[in-house]
Amino acid sequence: MDVDEILSGLYREQGRQDPYPWYAALHAHGPVSAVPVRPEHRTVSAVAVGYDPVDRVLRDAGWRKGAPPGWQEQEVLRTFMSSMMFTDPPDHTRMRAVFTKAFTPRRLGALEPVIVRVVDRMLDRMAEAGGAEVDFVADFAYPVPALVMAEFIGLPEADLPWYRQRADWIDEYLDVAGKTPQRLTRANRAAEELRAYYRDLIAHRRRRPGEDLVSALVGAFDASEVELTEDELISNLIVLFNASFVTTVYMFSNGLPLLLAHPDTVAALPGDDALAGGCVEEVLRMQSPVHFLARVAPADTDLGGVPVRRGENVLLIIAAANRDPVRFPDPDRFDPRRDGPPSLAFGIGPHFCLGAAVSRLEGRLALPRLFARFPNLTLTGTPTYSGSLFLRGIDKLVVSTGG
Ligand code: HEM
Repeated sequence: MDVDEILSGLYREQGRQDPYPWYAALHAHGPVSAVPVRPEHRTVSAVAVGYDPVDRVLRDAGWRKGAPPGWQEQEVLRTFMSSMMFTDPPDHTRMRAVFTKAFTPRRLGALEPVIVRVVDRMLDRMAEAGGAEVDFVADFAYPVPALVMAEFIGLPEADLPWYRQRADWIDEYLDVAGKTPQRLTRANRAAEELRAYYRDLIAHRRRRPGEDLVSALVGAFDASEVELTEDELISNLIVLFNASFVTTVYMFSNGLPLLLAHPDTVAALPGDDALAGGCVEEVLRMQSPVHFLARVAPADTDLGGVPVRRGENVLLIIAAANRDPVRFPDPDRFDPRRDGPPSLAFGIGPHFCLGAAVSRLEGRLALPRLFARFPNLTLTGTPTYSGSLFLRGIDKLVVSTGG
């Protein structure tokens, strides 16, 4: 199969359901492949699957995010382009510094009891099913990160269903093949409504500050301690919450079938913190929630033997890099005690995931509690995947809690 055929297959239903054989086929062509010019491959001129070239590009701030054409006319793109995730230095550096300061070890430490409380509440709810079947996503993988992040940021729990719909509309548009006019209209509407929502929330927290992130940022903002406009503050909050929960939902939902296929590991999890940490890393490596990143070349260069010209877009498949046999021997084997480089599931370099420590903590605390409570947890249905290539994950997963 040539690269053209592989990419076409990857973008079709079969690839969306299981992209890993397509990634292996790309690896067989080398760490980087030139992409033939075809409309469905959009503006991408090369695709990188090798750990080393993906790592090199992500670490180099010279490789830019780039602006999508016509972004000024679309509310959703205006929101992205005034947030840290979609901008380049110096704006990126300035905005990220504000948020890095707010993610203090103290705030992270304070999250620990919140996570334990939320996890236990969801486990209690699953137990109420009395051993009957439950949807692990609806009852655990989704509510745990959503409730934890809502408390962290300062969103009222009652607003979450309304919020989720809007977050989903934005994520749909972000998918590689998701840029239809209908999706754009919905994503624009979602961005407008979320902006209005945050304007109200900020006004509310200004009057009655709490311990949450929005209160802290509003306080710093009003004391002129931060280099950020209120518009940028809102854009970053929208992007932050969107980036935080679907990814973590998929960490749990994609991880469960993988873990259940290793009953000895599962049995050893309660009480073994190091093993829990190793499981989280291995789940993220083998079943990464984020599959695709992209960057624009700063100059004519050679990337893994493929010439790339200045201004050309390169697709970086981090989920494929995480199974690069050069860096991860026997890459399809689940090994929570694996040594070696970190996976690229959270990216690396200047845009490295701001919330990596939050998700890792959620996973490390939640998994041992889940299996301590339900040692006989079993899958009873076939997992349903989202069908998105950019954010790949299980949206429905029927399990029996085993009485
Ligand atoms: C398992 C869960 C998560 C995964 C797999 C994940 C993945 C990623 C990846 C791959 C990037 C890099 C994007 C790039 O280089 O272009 C990123 C960035 C980011 N993530 Fe996460 N993330 C997760 C959880 C979170 C959480 C919990 C938060 C918030 C608390 C968060 C907030 C962000 C933000 C704000 C950025 C942008 C940082 C920047 O551009 O400087 N993420 N994430």
